[in-house]
Amino acid sequence: MKKDWWKEAVVYEIYPRSFMDSNGDGIGDLQGIISKLDYLKELGVDALWITPVYKSPQDDNGYDIADYMSIDPMFGGLSDMEELIAKAKERGICVLMDLVLNHSSDEHIWFQEAKKSRDNRYHDYYVWVDGEEGHPPNELCSCFGGSAWEWVPELKQYYLHQFSVKQPDLNWENKNMRYEIYRMINWWIDKGVGGFRLDVIDLIGKEPLKGITGNGPHLHEYIREMNARTFGGKNLLTVGETWGATPETAKIFSNSDGDEFSMVFQFEHSLLDQQEGKEKWDLKPLDFVKLKKILSKWQTELSDNGWNSLFWNNHDLPRIVSRWGNDDTYREESAKMLATLLYFMKGTPFIYQGEELAMTNVKYPIEEYRDIELLNLYRERLEKGYPKEEIMQSIYTKGRDNARTPMQWNASPNGGFTTGTPWIKVNPNYTEINAEEQLQRSGSVLNYYKALIHLRKQLKSICRGDYELLLPEHKQLFAYVRCSEGEKVIVICNFTASEIDDDWYCKVFREEKEGEYELLLSNYEKGNVELKPYEARVYRKRTAD
Ligand code: GLC
Ligand code: CA
Repeated sequence: MKKDWWKEAVVYEIYPRSFMDSNGDGIGDLQGIISKLDYLKELGVDALWITPVYKSPQDDNGYDIADYMSIDPMFGGLSDMEELIAKAKERGICVLMDLVLNHSSDEHIWFQEAKKSRDNRYHDYYVWVDGEEGHPPNELCSCFGGSAWEWVPELKQYYLHQFSVKQPDLNWENKNMRYEIYRMINWWIDKGVGGFRLDVIDLIGKEPLKGITGNGPHLHEYIREMNARTFGGKNLLTVGETWGATPETAKIFSNSDGDEFSMVFQFEHSLLDQQEGKEKWDLKPLDFVKLKKILSKWQTELSDNGWNSLFWNNHDLPRIVSRWGNDDTYREESAKMLATLLYFMKGTPFIYQGEELAMTNVKYPIEEYRDIELLNLYRERLEKGYPKEEIMQSIYTKGRDNARTPMQWNASPNGGFTTGTPWIKVNPNYTEINAEEQLQRSGSVLNYYKALIHLRKQLKSICRGDYELLLPEHKQLFAYVRCSEGEKVIVICNFTASEIDDDWYCKVFREEKEGEYELLLSNYEKGNVELKPYEARVYRKRTAD
């Protein structure tokens, strides 16, 4: 494969339990994914990131792994995984596994052993602190609520869990543990995977007694060791999930020497609606000018060293069309606009399942939700006396289950996802929003995504060109230029439901003439200069080098 092939790739994220159920038990599975490979091939993607399908008690939907080298029976077996890798490869698609290395499940054999005694050989694979019941070592909180310390009376020790109690943190200071992890990664590489997504990887260098969770002092040492002993130099796609990344740290994580990862997921643009210093549920209004500033900062700061990933959605974030778009009157227009905006930027795009159909958030009664984070929040805030309506509002806006409702394949019961009872209710709008309908309609969001992916692969400037934001203070318009040898591309996006009159035009094109540009793509029929609600246009000019 071409060196750095991943710079030109488009990745599709699959949340297996919600993608396609092949056997009617209501849970999506590996054979379900295999049955949809042609759909993915037609979409034009190069790689699939499969969120964890390893053996797991599913306390956090698989992000609590009990055995890194086997598949949970609910998803299939190892032979199904091998079949998926092989059949995807036949279609020119590779599979990325999700590595959860900051913690394991408490049902992993290592932890089962570790808690037997202080001198068990696995004890030190986890993070323990001596103490007294009722007096945790410090105030550190779990990301899912409550203390990050759990008391084990038989050992008279606390263990660290930055996520649920069933997700004890692994101790990266222990070399034996690290080497077992590397052996496991190599075992997957030998199975022919195309790379990895590394879950909350910026937490592995933690020093919890000093209150350090992200970006610990030995973090890069561990990452480089892992790289050297596993995926380094093998031309694989690796993407580190780093909630706390800044452009400065991202340049280290994704440096061009290739001794860490290919790229990172950074979340600054998805955190801008969170009140300063508060939890993700404490919302403040969306600030469009700030969004422009953040996305542009990442484009320019990583222009020479480092590499961006581009994403609006994943299994932890609300549906973008419901967040920054308009999931009512202009659902299709705004979804296409949002895709246009992102897909002409520099970086590797990730599509999250259903995004290509402009699937929306849901508003369910609390009994219909399944996510541990969301249910803990509900309980905690009720106890603290928050009004129920306010809690539900946070859940409707940011709850992770918004992204986890099943794929909407067609208009048959349960959207064609399962013939049984789905593990979580299907969004009732499946009769209107589904893949089958969109496949056959030329103006659909799905077909627009296909066109975007196709175009991306043809235009040199998208992968390599420079980026410049235009009209940074404009309250409705997100416009930027991409320039490379022989080509200049201008992207124009109206981020609002109101029209924009024609004065943007001279400002954007400056002294240049319209005739020099061709309109490459738009989400409306060609009209006047004025921009319609959520209108997006991409212009191209061929320039002399
Ligand atoms: C990541 C995953 C999320 C999971 C958490 C703990 O943020 O994306 O789904 O709950 O890590 O593993
Ligand atoms: Ca199933």
